[in-house]
Amino acid sequence: MLGDIKVASTFDPQAEFILWEGDCLSLTSTIPDEFVQLVVTSPPYNLGKPYESRIDLNEYLYQQKLIIQECIRVLKPSGSICWQIGNYVDNGEIIPLDILLYPIFQSFDLHLRNRIVWHFGHGLHASKRFSGRYEVILWFTKTDQYTFNLDAVRIPQKYPNKKYFKGPKKGELSGNPLGKNPGDIWEIPNVKANHVEKTAHPAQFPVELIERLILALTNPDDWVLDPFMGSGTSAIASLLHKRRAIGAEILPEYNAITKERLKLAEQGLLRIRPMERNVYDPDNPGKSIPPRFVDLAKKRLQPHLLEPKGNYYSDREKE
Ligand SMILES: C[S@@+](CC[C@H](N)C(=O)[O-])C[C@H]1O[C@@H](n2cnc3c(N)ncnc32)[C@H](O)[C@@H]1O
Repeated sequence: MLGDIKVASTFDPQAEFILWEGDCLSLTSTIPDEFVQLVVTSPPYNLGKPYESRIDLNEYLYQQKLIIQECIRVLKPSGSICWQIGNYVDNGEIIPLDILLYPIFQSFDLHLRNRIVWHFGHGLHASKRFSGRYEVILWFTKTDQYTFNLDAVRIPQKYPNKKYFKGPKKGELSGNPLGKNPGDIWEIPNVKANHVEKTAHPAQFPVELIERLILALTNPDDWVLDPFMGSGTSAIASLLHKRRAIGAEILPEYNAITKERLKLAEQGLLRIRPMERNVYDPDNPGKSIPPRFVDLAKKRLQPHLLEPKGNYYSDREKE
């Protein structure tokens, strides 16, 4: 237990967060069959980043196959796997890893529901090809009976008051008043130097990317597994939405970041970029929703501690 959240370092179904400080396969070997509802991860891309040594591509794919097989074993029949991946680059030539990994998932009879394109505005400036500004998320389900909470992740309609102008529904709203399906191209800023969530990890997920997957593909109290957890982003997103998190990270310095982020979240001091915030628009700079603080302290969630003091609400309404 670090603070309010019950954290375990080995498999414990009573925990809220299991942080395995070691190799992902040694973690998954302790998890029973059909235990987790969602696997969401971004594995190393075999690019020689600070947390990986570059290996032969076939060996890399073999290692990926081993962990994918384990993820499928521990996945519930209603569950999903989201493999977030980019390009392997060899001598200036790009090899999209999702193309190489898809046959592995297919060989295990998983069902591809979406190939989500995650588009972002910043990154390396290429000089001999167009600069890369997207990566992908392969979303697979284990069966045809899978959890998908679309209403939880709808986004505002472009024209919310648009009505049918003829026919039997004339005068009724033509769009769903709960919002529209976010589609399969997600424009979400990646975590670069000036992002509010930036830590020392070089390849962090933005929390909002994982929030959308968690809200759509799991229910409260479900387990979310990230076998390559890095700085703990998938755990933060899970706990924020009252899911349980389990994950492995092999490097101690990144586990230290995860623990620090969790501690800040329990103190109400961890800043994240809100899901509702639009991508920065220089023509409308004033419209931006500010960062919000994650507050995982349960004592602060008790209703009597949330009682408004004085004229808090009326002050807020004036804003
Ligand atoms: C792309 S990063 C994931 C970053 C993460 N999504 C985040 O938000 O911070 C991949 C991570 O996998 C870790 N890793 C590599 N091999 C591993 C293994 N066999 N078991 C567990 N973690 C591993 C690396 O140290 C690295 O932090």
